[in-house]
Amino acid sequence: MLQGKSILLGVSGGIAAYKAAELVRMFVRENASVHVVMTAGARQFVTPLTFQTLSSNPVGTDLFNLESESRISHIHKARIPDLVVLAPATANLIAKMAAGMADDLLTTILLATTAPVLVCPAMNVKMWEHPATRRNMKTLGELGYKVVDPGVGSLACKEEGTGRLAELSDIFEAACRVLTPPTLAGRRVLVSAGPTWEPFDPVRFISNPSTGKMGYALARIAARRAAEVHLVTGPSSIESPRGVLTHPVTTALQMQEAVAKLAPRMDAIVMAAAVSDYRPSMLAPQKLKKTREGHTVCLEPNPDILAGLGTVKPPSQVLVGFAAETENLLENARDKLVRKNLHFIVANNLTQKGSGFGCDTNEVKILDRDGTVTELPFQTKNEVAGEVWNRIERIFESIAAK
Ligand code: CTP
Repeated sequence: MLQGKSILLGVSGGIAAYKAAELVRMFVRENASVHVVMTAGARQFVTPLTFQTLSSNPVGTDLFNLESESRISHIHKARIPDLVVLAPATANLIAKMAAGMADDLLTTILLATTAPVLVCPAMNVKMWEHPATRRNMKTLGELGYKVVDPGVGSLACKEEGTGRLAELSDIFEAACRVLTPPTLAGRRVLVSAGPTWEPFDPVRFISNPSTGKMGYALARIAARRAAEVHLVTGPSSIESPRGVLTHPVTTALQMQEAVAKLAPRMDAIVMAAAVSDYRPSMLAPQKLKKTREGHTVCLEPNPDILAGLGTVKPPSQVLVGFAAETENLLENARDKLVRKNLHFIVANNLTQKGSGFGCDTNEVKILDRDGTVTELPFQTKNEVAGEVWNRIERIFESIAAK
């Protein structure tokens, strides 16, 4: 998803420097081209060879190196990237940036670059809280630097507090957001995700194998495009994407209530949740004990949340569903598209390898109201989510043109 993007990763001298190596891998995995510049302090913790190996590019270390300066000057280096990420950014680096100093390769590039800069501080809690660092951080904000705040927890120096380098997934997501055009800015969208759990005693429930990956990918990509994203999610072990407003629920009835509350204000709703169609009619107050006989659980239907939205939706609201099928994919999906009054439906063949529950990939067909069927290639769920939002953006445009 970062194909064609160039990221300069500045690493300064803190213990979290070792974590920057994984960050390089995360960017490279998404096809970004990564160039690393290390301060002298950073080289005390990790060797340039580590970053060179992971990025497949030479690592910048020395401002006055005749050989590397003749190959590519520091000014030219500052012009190349689409984004500069500083991880970890030490108190010293932050102080130099606030003062506008340029006494090594990294700080010189930082003064010369016009690319957006994402600062990811990491330091001891007392250093983070020191009035000088507070003042410097305020100055960085005023200078237009973007910041991924450090996390709270146990620090390498055995103290507790704020100062840990932010989670790498949060840094990665913040970087993606800077690099993604804000095509959904000003839009409010709702995504439902995951399974629902329908309990019949305090410790047992009926559900399905949905993990929430598709819905979380939809929420993540919409947030990258600057939408205000509400994620109504059944139980899932996936971490909520940064900046997404998450509304956790357990049962279909709770999901219906949460969705109904939010729906009227939404520009688009994408129901990716695998809602249980039935719930047990009785909920035993205590754990059911095993007996020699069989046990019968009576089920009653849950409301169809999406069909309900289709009957009350405002004319300008875009409504999208998923169809999870094991047979007659197109017929069943077409029926749901019409019956639930959707703009389009994403049809998923659950029997296909690499698609459906729990996979990171998906191969789907998109059915439109005019009968068109678009077969998308086998791709990651993030990429499928991108295609879904591209389509929704086109519908927004056509609604606005009317
Ligand atoms: N859906 C919903 N509420 C339900 C069941 C499904 O909102 N009680 C939504 C799903 O989130 C999905 C779409 O409807 O976007 C289709 O879900 P699916 O499970 O494929 O179909 P069902 O309508 O449940 O029909 P069936 O189980 O007969 O295939």
